[in-house]
Amino acid sequence: MKLVIVGTGYVGLISGLCFSEFGFETICVDKDKRRIQELEKGICPFFEPGIKDLLFKHLNKTKLISFKLSLTEAMNNADIIFITVGTPSRRIDAEADLTFIWDVANDIAENIKNYCVIVTKSTVPVGTTNKIKKIIQSKIEDEKFDVVSNPEFLREGSAINDFMRPDRIVIGTETKKSEKIMRELYRPLYLIETPIISTNIATAEIIKYASNSFLATKIGFINQVADLCEEVGANVQDVAKGMGIDKRIGPKFLHAGPGFGGSCFPKDVKAFVTTAKKHNIDFSILEAVNSSNNQRPKKIVKKILDKNKFGPDSKIALLGLSFKPDTDDIRDSTSLKIAKILQENDIRINCYDPKAMENSKIYNNNLIFFDTVYEACEGVNAIIIGTEWNEFRALNFHKIKEKIKNPIIFDLRNIYKSEELEKIGFSYYGVGK
Ligand code: UDX
Repeated sequence: MKLVIVGTGYVGLISGLCFSEFGFETICVDKDKRRIQELEKGICPFFEPGIKDLLFKHLNKTKLISFKLSLTEAMNNADIIFITVGTPSRRIDAEADLTFIWDVANDIAENIKNYCVIVTKSTVPVGTTNKIKKIIQSKIEDEKFDVVSNPEFLREGSAINDFMRPDRIVIGTETKKSEKIMRELYRPLYLIETPIISTNIATAEIIKYASNSFLATKIGFINQVADLCEEVGANVQDVAKGMGIDKRIGPKFLHAGPGFGGSCFPKDVKAFVTTAKKHNIDFSILEAVNSSNNQRPKKIVKKILDKNKFGPDSKIALLGLSFKPDTDDIRDSTSLKIAKILQENDIRINCYDPKAMENSKIYNNNLIFFDTVYEACEGVNAIIIGTEWNEFRALNFHKIKEKIKNPIIFDLRNIYKSEELEKIGFSYYGVGK
């Protein structure tokens, strides 16, 4: 089977490489000339564990992956075309901006020669795959194509493993022929008994938004429980453990922290609320999740400022800038939001991140960057742990104490125990404990 992937962002590139790993010939297409030129040289546009090795392998050894600027060449004899272009939030109404999707649909319509399956893999609002069908139908005969929704659930930082060992595959189809082709595509996963949910297109589209929104709701919920725990002397980590052991609840996505960020949750929650509004459905639960998450960075900063008087010339060391560990992605990063609010309060920010400093420089050029945690902590009035990178889990606090002005730590990811740090002489503040 020959595959074409349109869009070489996170989902597109990871999917392309993993399909090559399954053994399929895959062509990735992107309009960004520089990106294509770099990919052809084996240069990845973002950091993700394992991606460089896969790219090297399939570019140079198996030669199963290739990169092209235009669909015209790529679509020759393609069996499946995946649409994996971005669907950012529109500024005015938070609705998913589908401009790129419509462009690709038109482009595909102009280039179809033989029968192919056109698949939406980007997260798209319910009804989008059907609209793609209408665009293509207006230009070519129905027998030449089918549309399918096959949402992707991979997480940044563990994307390759998530793709190769998914909890489930969701396939929304409207013909037996396209369902058969999609099942054939995922045959390599039968070996590990991955469940396949085969359903209609609208249901598949909703499954993706409902899953992300539900996970975001779990986080929003535990964050508000954390606020309550702080007031009544309870410990949110034990609360989460006590809740999560109940199989109906489950332990995952119950880590309290500074709020959810990243390229998906904030945008998908907003878009799902907008879809519900369009259909006159009361979605006040999700609206509350969205608004409490938006307010969270401000509230966290208020707590930090209430706990300590930061006089003129105060400096804080911020450890971790990416929205989560193992990625250089800073989209909707809560660390960077917190840094901005602290700067508005005349506090200077020293910072360190293992991978996200280059991206952060572009976003906020008033941050002061350091090569190590220890240099970033020199002479500061407090430390904030903003992202739970592994390398922050066993820091030498004796060494830090010698460099720091005031030994205060705000551990926004709850990676330390207060007793450990208090023994060394730090004032320790976690979240919800
Ligand atoms: C998410 C979904 O998990 C994935 O299935 C979908 O395809 C894309 O969106 P991702 O954004 O890569 O993946 O990261 P994820 O690990 O889900 O974390 C999202 C945000 O939630 C991060 O800011 C993270 O720090 C936060 N989070 C997560 C918490 O605050 N607490 C938790 O318990 C879990």
